[in-house]
Amino acid sequence: MERILKAAVLGMGNMGRGHARSLMRMEQVDIAALCSNPVDDARHFAEENHLVCPVFDDFDRMLDEVPIDVLYICLPPFAHDGQFEKAAERGIHIFIEKPVALTAERGMAMAEAARENKIITQVGYQMRFGTAVKKFKEYMDNGRAGRPTLYMADYECNSLHGPWWRDVKKCGGQVFEQVIHLYDMGLYLMGRASSVNGYIANLCHTQVEGYTVEDTSTCSIRFENGALGSVCGSNCSVKNQWNARFRVICENMTADFTDQNHGVFTFTDKESVEIVEIAGDTDCTYEEDCYFIGAVLGEHKAMADIQEGYEGLRLVSAVVESSGQEGKTVRIHP
Ligand SMILES: NC(=O)c1ccc[n+]([C@@H]2O[C@H](COP(=O)([O-])OP(=O)(O)OC[C@H]3O[C@@H](n4cnc5c(N)ncnc54)[C@H](O)[C@@H]3O)[C@@H](O)[C@H]2O)c1
Repeated sequence: MERILKAAVLGMGNMGRGHARSLMRMEQVDIAALCSNPVDDARHFAEENHLVCPVFDDFDRMLDEVPIDVLYICLPPFAHDGQFEKAAERGIHIFIEKPVALTAERGMAMAEAARENKIITQVGYQMRFGTAVKKFKEYMDNGRAGRPTLYMADYECNSLHGPWWRDVKKCGGQVFEQVIHLYDMGLYLMGRASSVNGYIANLCHTQVEGYTVEDTSTCSIRFENGALGSVCGSNCSVKNQWNARFRVICENMTADFTDQNHGVFTFTDKESVEIVEIAGDTDCTYEEDCYFIGAVLGEHKAMADIQEGYEGLRLVSAVVESSGQEGKTVRIHP
């Protein structure tokens, strides 16, 4: 008989509910418990979805009372308080939403806990699962794209979001919370970063009470393989739009992505230019959840694991650190 994994979800807001819905669609998974503070978030989800399982507001009690194989951590950044390490010590496999912590040091401790306890981990970088991103990776892996030379990305929106999001002490800032998806994409497509120079600023929200995060950011990246990159972020752009666009110039191909599912690849290595257009409709959250469960069941190797979550966190921390030093170069990997 197929193995059934017992899952728990910690944090039942937007992301916790989304992942719980994915898990409910999978035959190999039973949701064994939900935890949130306030507990009503978990209780309402269970009631609305006819899910029969215990709900908790106390994470430690949930760990003591319910045997679980996999844990989804979907907390806001400020609420991370050692839950990752506690679950890792019990050998529980962990999916965790980005950013995995508010400091690179905390991210490194999590990666160490995962290694020590030999657990499978995955971070919520669902853009990696987009149709166009997967196709691009194929062209990279089979050599058709050639060497990647330049990565250009920009994340734009215009929203006040929720109260914790506007508070830099609770969320880390827009680079930690949102633009990190594009920093991760840069690491995924170009390889490890060796150094960055960054600037962040609050230009449009100085009069908004409690708004202490930056609304504008930019950075230059040098990758270990010699390639270069730039990533910009803005929360002063078009209202009701969330755009995450990126572009990669490789030796034989230039790829333009309007999002992870849509890309135009222009091959530049022949006399006549060849263009390939990709338009997919992958449900990337469901796809990443299926991938994580498959990795726990031993069907394939892990992807976007906590070490990679740490690398992304290290990169955005370096952007903020550089900005605090007038854009001075911050080294990441020697
Ligand atoms: N991958 C993505 O595209 C994506 C998109 C949005 C948010 N996120 C990330 O997901 C995480 C959660 O964001 P969200 O939008 O779901 O937040 P949210 O505010 O909607 O929900 C947070 C949930 O956590 C619970 N909670 C807060 N503190 C708690 C604690 N100490 N113990 C237990 N429960 C607690 C709240 O009750 C709530 O249910 C954030 O890190 C965010 O960056 C990822």
